[in-house]
Amino acid sequence: MKKTLLAALLSVVGMHCAVAAEPIDPIQPVKVENPALVNLGKMLFFDPRLSRSGFISCNSCHNLATGGVDNLKTSIGDRWAQGPINSPTVLNSFGQIAQFWDGRAKTLEEQAAGPIANPLEMASTHEMAVKVIASIPGYAKYFKAAFGDAGVTIDRITEAMAAFEKTLVTPNSRFDKWLKGNKKALTKQELAGYQLFKSSGCTMCHNGEKVGGSSFQKMGLVRPYETTNTAEGVKAVSGRDQDRMTFKVPILRNVELTYPYFHDGEAATLEKAVEVMGDVQLGRRYTEKETAQIVAFLKTLTGDQPKITYPVLPPSSAATPAFDPWAPAKK
Ligand code: HEC
Ligand code: HEC
Repeated sequence: MKKTLLAALLSVVGMHCAVAAEPIDPIQPVKVENPALVNLGKMLFFDPRLSRSGFISCNSCHNLATGGVDNLKTSIGDRWAQGPINSPTVLNSFGQIAQFWDGRAKTLEEQAAGPIANPLEMASTHEMAVKVIASIPGYAKYFKAAFGDAGVTIDRITEAMAAFEKTLVTPNSRFDKWLKGNKKALTKQELAGYQLFKSSGCTMCHNGEKVGGSSFQKMGLVRPYETTNTAEGVKAVSGRDQDRMTFKVPILRNVELTYPYFHDGEAATLEKAVEVMGDVQLGRRYTEKETAQIVAFLKTLTGDQPKITYPVLPPSSAATPAFDPWAPAKK
């Protein structure tokens, strides 16, 4: 009896392995549970009035027309402030081990509270953000539809934004079609690139349905990575010296669109990023042909981009605090 149970268990495990033999899984489209909440979140994501200047929205740095990033080395914030770090994409961002390069926010809700009040980003305050949104009469019906009453709080703002961000999934990439059994979905070169990506060990860190986002790893595992960027990685959160230069492994979905690469934005092209990864993470120098194969594979990870209908935002009222983008900086 015991033996047969074990055999049955083993066969179940075996079957499961046969299905999940690849280290990367197809990414699933989302089911929207609360459309009113998502719609409000979309409006807020595009609303520049959440910033001090009245000019910067989440979409300024996470442009949904360009893969959810700004394609800049490091972002530009309030008063043209030079941001300290490259902006990661908001596409497929939900469900990672944590948010931010150093993982300092656990969830999207927690994350969204950050940029509004970050002096180098939107440079407002949570109180001001609430005051502004509450002063716009046209928002009331959207809060009511999402939450049951028109009350505006920072938690509701971030909850709605997170609900919207959860819908920013990009299924149906050519690689996913291949994973699901369409063997014609990849060219020979792309397939060779995937084999190399697996056999050389890239999938140790870039795996799962997001091809990343599931662990923190040292940048410069076998050779130190040289950069003038002062970001400390996870050390900034943990305080432990050994966590210096440890970062959340970035998502490689849509990586073709999310240049430049690395936390410092120093790799302008995918070729460069692949060379550096091979070198500092795996101690491997790829030939030009091998690099081209891996790059070709990475480009098959571009999925259907979310279809965004540009929201029409309700106008400000006389009660809305005036924006003064050029006001002298407070010391
Ligand atoms: C001025 C540019 C800028 C603005 C505006 C901005 N962000 Fe970001 N965002 C960044 C940068 C840079 C990072 C990375 C910061 C870090 O990791 O330390 C980031 C990180 C994130 C992440 C984490 C992604 C990941 O994979 O770790 C999410 C999600 C996000 N932003 C959403 C938002 C939302 C929502 C808003 C609007 C409330 C917003 N951002 C406004 C630049 C910006
Ligand atoms: C030991 C874990 C590890 C291995 C192995 C690894 N990576 Fe990475 N990868 C990372 C980390 C961590 C980062 C972020 C580093 C940074 O920005 O400083 C990264 C960043 C990247 C980026 C840039 C993504 C972006 O949006 O900025 C690409 C592309 C990439 N890796 C591809 C590869 C390829 C191809 C391989 C195999 C040759 C590989 N990686 C192997 C951990 C790893």
